[in-house]
Amino acid sequence: MRLTNKRAFISGAGGGIGRATALKFAAEGAAVIVSDIRAATAEETAQLITTAGGAAVTAIGDLTDPATCESIFAAGAKALGGIDIIFNNAGIIAAEDAGPVETPLSAWNATIGANLTAVFLACKYGIPHLLTAGGGAIVNNATLVALVGSAFPQIAYTAAKGGVLSMTRELAIMYGRKNIRANAICPGPTATPIVNAFMADQAAWELRRPFMPMGRLGRPEEIANLVAFLASDEASYITGAAYSIDGGISAAYVIKDDPV
Ligand SMILES: NC(=O)c1ccc[n+]([C@@H]2O[C@H](COP(=O)([O-])OP(=O)(O)OC[C@H]3O[C@@H](n4cnc5c(N)ncnc54)[C@H](O)[C@@H]3O)[C@@H](O)[C@H]2O)c1
Repeated sequence: MRLTNKRAFISGAGGGIGRATALKFAAEGAAVIVSDIRAATAEETAQLITTAGGAAVTAIGDLTDPATCESIFAAGAKALGGIDIIFNNAGIIAAEDAGPVETPLSAWNATIGANLTAVFLACKYGIPHLLTAGGGAIVNNATLVALVGSAFPQIAYTAAKGGVLSMTRELAIMYGRKNIRANAICPGPTATPIVNAFMADQAAWELRRPFMPMGRLGRPEEIANLVAFLASDEASYITGAAYSIDGGISAAYVIKDDPV
């Protein structure tokens, strides 16, 4: 198992990619701090882990609040005896997030808060625990649209995730000699409940499908596999990198449907 004896913090672990990663980490031997703003779904994830024979504790709260974030890391580290891995995964898409002219400042602020400020705070309060453990791994969940823009804009989301990518590189440089690695993942559209609901609209799906070389959404478990690798010692020389995991979308310039 890849993560035996590791203690992992996962934000947004009550939801799609976070939950899949929590289950994967536990299956690979890690004890997991299942963190989410929603208590019920976090408890469900923890229950799934313990029922399968794994180890999990929940850490409920809003990670955009500094005092809450600090106490979540302190409690999680106390419960598991330390923290070796941080997966900054929690994020939101605000319904009103659109182009720069249309997006209300309130939607901008909420999006930057949940997608970028919360990652900064998790580093602020989480990295001291990694240092205490003698090192560790940070994986930040960015997005495909942090690498390539979209003509269907979500300006706040894109900007926040771009910030996550930049922060990841600086973390890698700052903490390279302290045995902490930091990497980002850039998933394409992944079949979590919010995306499934959106893509159920045939017109929305048909608009995007031609730009997907693999012609399908990613699965949360496929994203979790990459996160588990980057968090593990098998990735011991990988830091400061951004990994596309998008079925080839970011590699495509012009494609036609089913070219062969
Ligand atoms: N699903 C996709 O297509 C896709 C693609 C690229 C990137 N991502 C990124 O992956 C991450 C997870 O996405 P998902 O689709 O699994 O979403 P999701 O909505 O299923 O899960 C996100 C979780 O984060 C939690 N959360 C939100 N704000 C929080 C806060 N302030 N404090 C604590 N918890 C909070 C939510 O309660 C939820 O459980 C996000 O950062 C998202 O931007 C998703």
